[in-house]
Amino acid sequence: MGVTTVTDVRPTSDADGVLHTLFRSDQGGHEQVVLCQDRESGLKAVIAIHSTALGPALGGTRFHAYASEEEAVRDALNLARGMSYKNALAGLDLGGGKAVIIGDPEVIKSEELLLAYGRFVASLGGRYVTACDVGTYVADMDVVARECQWVTGRSPENGGAGDSSVLTAFGVFQGMRASAEAAWGDPTLRGRRVGVAGVGKVGHHLVGHLLEDGAEVLVTDVRAESVDRIKAKYPQITVVADTDALIRADLDVYAPCALGGALNDETVPVLTAKVVCGAANNQLAHPGVEKDLADRGILYAPDYVVNAGGVIQVADEMHGFDFDRAKAKATKIFDTTLAIFKRAEADGVPPAAAADRLAEQRMAEARQR
Ligand SMILES: NC(=O)c1ccc[n+]([C@@H]2O[C@H](COP(=O)([O-])OP(=O)(O)OC[C@H]3O[C@@H](n4cnc5c(N)ncnc54)[C@H](O)[C@@H]3O)[C@@H](O)[C@H]2O)c1
Repeated sequence: MGVTTVTDVRPTSDADGVLHTLFRSDQGGHEQVVLCQDRESGLKAVIAIHSTALGPALGGTRFHAYASEEEAVRDALNLARGMSYKNALAGLDLGGGKAVIIGDPEVIKSEELLLAYGRFVASLGGRYVTACDVGTYVADMDVVARECQWVTGRSPENGGAGDSSVLTAFGVFQGMRASAEAAWGDPTLRGRRVGVAGVGKVGHHLVGHLLEDGAEVLVTDVRAESVDRIKAKYPQITVVADTDALIRADLDVYAPCALGGALNDETVPVLTAKVVCGAANNQLAHPGVEKDLADRGILYAPDYVVNAGGVIQVADEMHGFDFDRAKAKATKIFDTTLAIFKRAEADGVPPAAAADRLAEQRMAEARQR
């Protein structure tokens, strides 16, 4: 009988699976995971700190009705890890963390619950700094901040940075300019056909930057209000029926700005664009899609790199928010995106892999200091 090594240990239940991920897999290695409970308010939360190598772990609080507690822990682990990479490449001296509150926010969100949550965040003494995410809003952060000083994403009246989509869109535009430089040797979208899927908060601002730069813009959105609002503001844009029609519409650039998973086995083979650069999180539906894009000669600007303007904006709150200072930092997304393309070429890997390598390098260097 052979010796059983840790890599041979297989999880026997979902809970075991989470611990396996945390302690033994490449997706784990988190420094700290805190399970929080306050029965009076109904709070059940998970705070995951992936890395504090570069500084306190910054990442938002997701409020969601998870199918199980294990699923919630898994989501917190994945999201926290993602924040370490995003913050590292955003040039922030901040590590990565994320929290999830378990339950339907429409049903259980209350002031008591948010205050109890704030006390848990406070108990970490600044190792974790929170912000908004899906299911939590600026008004919620204002409540959390009554119990805890390590909160960003508050309202401007409470010292907050306000709507983070402004610099998110600006950062995506910088990433797209860098992509244009890499693809066509000129950092401008002038004369390019750019398709934006999802014209909500970020997509709307992005369209403004693109038109100002002289691009021809096509948009689509599932919500009629979003389409009507943007068409009223910019009558010169073309509205396309749906995302499927958009990605087939002879584009130079495709900008996914709606939900995750936009790049998958169905969409990648039919993409007409030479460049993909957009705000949506988790655009690659599964590992391997980044290689499919590269094999088709499509330049993919990694989502977490180009959409970091929002985290740059809220991180600035920690020093007393200054929009111009935050914007100057978000401008650097141009250089970072170009550096990733160069590293990808040098290492012979897709840009998504090169981005991960650069982020890991920055964290490793910080750990050695
Ligand atoms: N807001 C930020 O600061 C920020 C920061 C980083 C990343 N992101 C990511 O960027 C994306 C957009 O964020 P947002 O704040 O603009 O959200 P939003 O909800 O304001 O806008 C999303 C838009 O996409 C549309 N949409 C949804 N499904 C669609 C589909 N299948 N096809 C076309 N349109 C569809 C919605 O109707 C909506 O108008 C999200 O993936 C978000 O996670 C946002």
